Amino acid sequence: MTPKKRLHVITWGCQMNVYDSARMADVLAPLGYAPADAPDGADMVILNTCHIRDKAAEKVFSELGRLRRLKEAKAAEGGHMMLAVAGCVAQAEGAEILARAPFVDIVLGPQTYHRLPELVARVARAGGAVIDTDFPAEQKFDFLPEAAAPQGVCAFLTIQEGCDRFCSFCVVPYTRGAEQSRPAAAVIAEAKRLIAQGAREITLLGQNVNAWHGQAPDGTTWGLGRLIRELAVLPGLLRLRYATSHPRDMTDELIAAHRDVPMLMPFLHLPVQSGSDRVLAAMNRKHTAADYLRLVDELRTARPDLALSSDFIVGHPGETERDFADTLKLVRDVGFAQAYSFCYSPRPGTPAAGAPQQVPDDVKRRRLAELQALLREQQTRFNRGCVGLTMPVLFTGPGRHGGQIAGRSSFLQPVHLSGPVKLIGSESEVRITAALPNSLSATLTEERACA
Ligand code: SAH
Ligand code: SF4
Ligand code: F3S
Repeated sequence: MTPKKRLHVITWGCQMNVYDSARMADVLAPLGYAPADAPDGADMVILNTCHIRDKAAEKVFSELGRLRRLKEAKAAEGGHMMLAVAGCVAQAEGAEILARAPFVDIVLGPQTYHRLPELVARVARAGGAVIDTDFPAEQKFDFLPEAAAPQGVCAFLTIQEGCDRFCSFCVVPYTRGAEQSRPAAAVIAEAKRLIAQGAREITLLGQNVNAWHGQAPDGTTWGLGRLIRELAVLPGLLRLRYATSHPRDMTDELIAAHRDVPMLMPFLHLPVQSGSDRVLAAMNRKHTAADYLRLVDELRTARPDLALSSDFIVGHPGETERDFADTLKLVRDVGFAQAYSFCYSPRPGTPAAGAPQQVPDDVKRRRLAELQALLREQQTRFNRGCVGLTMPVLFTGPGRHGGQIAGRSSFLQPVHLSGPVKLIGSESEVRITAALPNSLSATLTEERACA
C-alpha cells in the first residue's frame, strides 16, 4: 500500500466554501491524500479563499507568505509541499496570484474542483504552475465522486451555485458565475447518502438558494418549496434548513412549505441589507423596505414561531443619515433573533465601487457600531426569552467539558447541557436554564435524563 499523503485545507468565507473544501478533500482521497490538522509538513495545502469584503487579496498574500516558509522547510528536508489557491480570490485574481507568489503550484476557481486530480497530476509530472479558472460547460457536480467523508449530525448540501442578481456591491456573480441549479434527483440522492452517514439535519446551500429551480424526475421544473417537501419524507432526517435567500425569490410555494413542513426549522436567514428604499434601489435589490416587511408578515403567518436573521451593509455609496435611520427603523419593526452587519467594502469591478458619494470610513464605523448595538440588544432579548422554555434540541457532539453534550435549538442557537453521549444524533425536549451571549444552557427533561 502506498503511504498516505497529508492534505491540509484552510477555509475562509461562506458555508459554500466549507462544503467545497470537503468536496476537494473527497476528490483527492483516491490519490492517497488524507486530511491533516495542520499545514506543517503536509504534502499538499489548499487555501480556499473568500473575496466578499475587506482586503481579501492582501490577506491571501500574507497567508501565502506563511505557507511559503512551511514549503521551504519541507523542501529543506527533501520533501515537497504542493500549494493550491482555490475559491473566490483565485477566481478573481487568477494569474496575478502566480505573478506575486510564484511558489504557488495550482490556482483554481470554484467551478473546476472536479479537475483537481488532473491538475495535481500535471504539476507532479511536469512541475511548473497550473491555473484553471474556467467556467466549464460541464457541471462540476456531475464529475465529483459520490464517496464523501461523513459530515456528522449536521450536514451541508449545495443545491445551487452562482447568482444572476448583480447587487451593486457584490462580487459573487463574478466569482461564482451564472446561477446553476442541480437536478432534484441528484440532490435527493446526496441527501440519502448524508443521512446514511449519520446526518440528521441538512442545510441546503446556495449563494441564492431560494432561486433554485431544478429539473424534476418527471422532466418538469421544481422550486425549492417542492424540493423541501420531497426531502422531508426521507427516513432518518429530522431537520431541514436552507441558506442564503434573496427576498425577491421567496415564492408562495416556499412560504407554504414553512407552514406545512414541521421539519423545516423556524429560523430563516433572509438578508435585507438596508431599510432605505433609496439605498435598496441603488443596491439593485429590486425590493423595498415595505416589500420586506410584508414578506416577514406572510412568513410569520405561515409559521408563527419563525425567528429571523439578516445581513446588513452600512455606508453603501450615497447612504445618508436619514437612510441609515430607516435601517434602524426596519430592524426595530422586524425584531431579529440574530444578524450579521458589515461596513460597505468596495469590491473591484462591481458597480458600487466606482460610484460617487463614497461614505467616509469613520462614518461607516460609527453607523456600524450603532446598528450592532441594536442588533445585539435584540439577540440578547431573543435568547433571554428562551429561558424557562422547553424546546427541542438536536444533539450534535460531545461538549467541551466531561459529561457534557452540545446541540442546537431549532433557532440555530448552540445549546450546552449535561447528558450522555449516546444521545448524539437524536433530538429531544430540553429545558433552557440560562442564556449566554452566544449560546444557551439547558437540562434534560426528566424522562431523557433517566433514559
Ligand atoms: N447571497 C446572499 C449573500 C452573499 S454575501 C444574499 O443575497 O444576501 C454575504 C453578505 O456579505 C451579504 O449579504 C452582504 O451583507 C455582505 N456583503 C457582500 N458584499 C459586500 C461588500 N462589498 N461590502 C460589505 N458587505 C458585503
Ligand atoms: Fe451577491 Fe446575494 Fe446579491 Fe447575489 S443576491 S449579487 S450573492 S448579495
Ligand atoms: Fe466569499 Fe465567495 Fe462565499 S466571495 S462569501 S467564498 S461565494
